[in-house]
Amino acid sequence: MISEKDFIQNNYTASVESGNFEWSAPSNIALVKYWGKKDKQIPANPSISFTLNNCKTITKLGFTKKENDGNFSFNLLFEGQPKEDFKPKIQKFFERIFEYCPYLKDFHFTIDTQNTFPHSSGIASSASGMAALAMNIMSLEKVLNPTISEEYFFQKASFLARLGSGSACRSVKGSVVVWGNHAEISGSSDLFGVEFPSTIHNNFKNYQDTILLVDKGEKQVSSTVGHDLMFGHPFAEKRFSQAHHNLSSIKNVLESGDVEQFIKIVESEALTLHAMMMTSMPYFILMKPNTLEIINKIWKFRNETQTPVCFTLDAGANVHVLYPENVKEKVLQFIKGELVGYCQNGQYICDEIGLGALMI
Ligand code: PMV
Repeated sequence: MISEKDFIQNNYTASVESGNFEWSAPSNIALVKYWGKKDKQIPANPSISFTLNNCKTITKLGFTKKENDGNFSFNLLFEGQPKEDFKPKIQKFFERIFEYCPYLKDFHFTIDTQNTFPHSSGIASSASGMAALAMNIMSLEKVLNPTISEEYFFQKASFLARLGSGSACRSVKGSVVVWGNHAEISGSSDLFGVEFPSTIHNNFKNYQDTILLVDKGEKQVSSTVGHDLMFGHPFAEKRFSQAHHNLSSIKNVLESGDVEQFIKIVESEALTLHAMMMTSMPYFILMKPNTLEIINKIWKFRNETQTPVCFTLDAGANVHVLYPENVKEKVLQFIKGELVGYCQNGQYICDEIGLGALMI
């Protein structure tokens, strides 16, 4: 089994003066949710997600050799403008990964980043952002140590991304990714995300995700605080074992193409995630009245038309509407006709399953 120590290398034999890389990395949407973590971003339960295609972060990393004075040195640009308030997060990320990337203090970096989705859309950019940065860092590592394999490159990128933001480790690869040890998923690990190892049924190829932007404001409770509230949570142990069970079930569903069962697991997972928030101490609610309006409309539409459409939720009020590609026209018509009115400024984003991070 791969351990943390495998990501510590000493053979950085090559040298480089300056250069730059550019990577894009997508967001992802969990089907079985990660909620609760142990020390060092180790998940309390395994999770599985669809990698998205259109919602992504594009990050350019410029680097110039400097004297190793024991400090990290970097500038940060967001959409071309200096962004001081993002810097502490990057500083913390560098500190966390330094053990695994000792070359980070040998360079001055310029991190130039932008998202394809609207700023403050309520879509978390930490997953795509940390994944894009981790890919760039691994490109630099590959220059310094050209012997690393492609497998190691992607595994370590996911490992580093996880240390930035847990779910970011699921944004490196596509199209379905598992993160966290699970008895039935070969190669699964708490340390990094792995591609779902079985063949995915055609029903789930090109699955669609339309993200309804219900509330674009800042979350009242960050996911870091939310994860922490699973410590001593009265339902924690039951929830963690339920996630293992749901991952076993969804594995069969993705192999067999059983969309009806998929809907049950995915919606139950979304509501369980929010139930955990409502039953922690202190308790909190991230859904908004319009989140519930949308859920009820989806249920009504599904009952009346037998269209296999369902919802899932992140740690926020926005609704991800999931459906197979062959009902796209019908569902988009439904969304435009009946759901857009519940979105802030009528905004929604059409996305679908994607392939993971790409070098530009
Ligand atoms: O990666 P974090 O710490 O932002 O946590 C994300 C947690 C959820 O989005 C709610 C669920 C998940 O598995 O992505």
